[in-house]
Amino acid sequence: DPAQTDAFRTPIVAVLGHVDHGKTSLLDKIRGSAVIEGESGAITQHIGATAVPLDVVSKIAGDLVDPEEFDLPGLLFIDTPGHHAFTTLRARGGALADIAILVVDVTDGFQPQTHEAVSILQDSETPFVVAANKVDTIPGWNPSPDAPIRASYEAQSDRVRGDLDERLYEIIGDLSDAGFSADFYWRVKNFRQNVGVIPVSAETGEGIPDLLAVLMGLSQRYMGEEMEVDISGPGAGTVLEVTEERGFGSTLDVILYDGTIEEGDEIVVGGTQGPIVTTVRALLQPRDLAEIRTEKRFEQVESVSAAMGLKIAAPDLKEALSGAPVRVVGDRETEAVVEAVQEEL
Ligand code: GTP
Ligand code: MG
Repeated sequence: DPAQTDAFRTPIVAVLGHVDHGKTSLLDKIRGSAVIEGESGAITQHIGATAVPLDVVSKIAGDLVDPEEFDLPGLLFIDTPGHHAFTTLRARGGALADIAILVVDVTDGFQPQTHEAVSILQDSETPFVVAANKVDTIPGWNPSPDAPIRASYEAQSDRVRGDLDERLYEIIGDLSDAGFSADFYWRVKNFRQNVGVIPVSAETGEGIPDLLAVLMGLSQRYMGEEMEVDISGPGAGTVLEVTEERGFGSTLDVILYDGTIEEGDEIVVGGTQGPIVTTVRALLQPRDLAEIRTEKRFEQVESVSAAMGLKIAAPDLKEALSGAPVRVVGDRETEAVVEAVQEEL
């Protein structure tokens, strides 16, 4: 039945960059909630996932994203911490991602974790764009809240624009040293061959329409076939964290990157003592535009399709391992799936 087989999966977008360069603020601006306020010490300690449906993407991006032109259901953002201690979380986020945003503070430029993020993206061959953030901090900047950046860029005085250009060329130079040919995003023709640099401000919202438009275009135009998958197949995901949830016991925070998972499914999860075979008791999903880390009331759902962040409640998850695979058994032999999970541990 062709109507049932192929559908476009939601692209996974990792947000990477040096500490304090504005990763969480950018997502925060996009989802319009105040996650930052709830973060301990303003350091993002865990990976979170934020689903932004296509109609919201197009609302924020205005004329730059026409929803009629896209088959993709939206974008799933994974925030990562910039603090130097969290290399594994960044690598996990980078490995899961279809595409990435490298956030660079336009005044601070490339810093140690920027270099580290670039090499993670290089190793995983993840296409990325650069969000040159905090343009509003350039002395004399004349803000145009939530506007596309081209108009705002043209509206600056020659001196301010020259100042911004100088900083952007420095970032372009650092990317070049790392082996990437980069340019202002509006001059880039093929975003898979060249890295687009998008001036943005998480504070004023300038450039965010452009950022979303480039991400949608990059996913649809250059990854269309990879996004066109049978999302009705058995679910596959990665454990971000094992957490205690009142009323549910040990649960898994998971990014589902392929297929579908349903309540009652038999699953195999990587654990400290080897693969765990168990049955899904409940699937808990953050609402769209809610942040999986801070959302306290999850919605219980019967079925989830990729890509999505979700919480899985099931017996025997105490020994489950962060970073380990989660597989729905489906109509395969349980033993074959156990072996496949064992090999990935
Ligand atoms: P880690 O998660 O710790 O790696 O940091 P982060 O990259 O998520 O940075 P975060 O979003 O927490 O922002 C750090 C600080 O920069 C906060 O005080 C933000 O308010 C500020 N900030 C972020 N983006 C902007 C911006 O575009 N303009 C201005 N003026 N400040 C910003
Ligand atoms: Mg953060």
